Amino acid sequence: MKAIALIGFMGAGKTSVGRLLAEKLEMKFVDLDELIEEKAKMTVLEIFRLRGENYFRKVEAETLKGALQVEDTVISTGGGSVIRSENREILRSKSIVIYLTAGAGDILKRVGNTGDSRPLLNVDSPLHEIERLLEKRQPLYENVADITVDTTGMEINLIVDKVINEVNNLNSKNRKNDNRR
Ligand code: S3P
Repeated sequence: MKAIALIGFMGAGKTSVGRLLAEKLEMKFVDLDELIEEKAKMTVLEIFRLRGENYFRKVEAETLKGALQVEDTVISTGGGSVIRSENREILRSKSIVIYLTAGAGDILKRVGNTGDSRPLLNVDSPLHEIERLLEKRQPLYENVADITVDTTGMEINLIVDKVINEVNNLNSKNRKNDNRR
């Protein structure tokens, strides 16, 4: 099966949903930030501090490209992976893209107030920053998504079951369209 990529803002649940989804579908699981850390031999926080966001985005793009070459894989991406148009293109062509949404308040609760592991939220008013980034990124997420799942107030098992259901619907719709051709 084609790779499944989870996209969405920080704290939307991409990693935990991705891991459980892969387990249920018996697919491999990779977390893009973890791959980036292995590749750069630094944590995400260190990469931002020592090399800057541009360098991070460059490694992120290379890593995403590599990860999407492998079939039968669930990939949880970082929240900013849709910023570059080359990433959006490759996500669209190489994977089924699942967009997990959550409101700014929920996101803040989930990521907490510290920017310990999320350098972009290490600011005076993380809520404002979440709102500002969400406004910029929402159209980009929507632009690549095949399936959108609102995670507000939903328990992880339910989110994963909903994703599986939607992926099955999409696959059977695509099969029908292929048969008509
Ligand atoms: C980022 C999200 C993070 C990580 C980096 C930048 C972003 O990943 O890639 O801190 O730009 O939104 P998560 O979405 O997994 O927190």
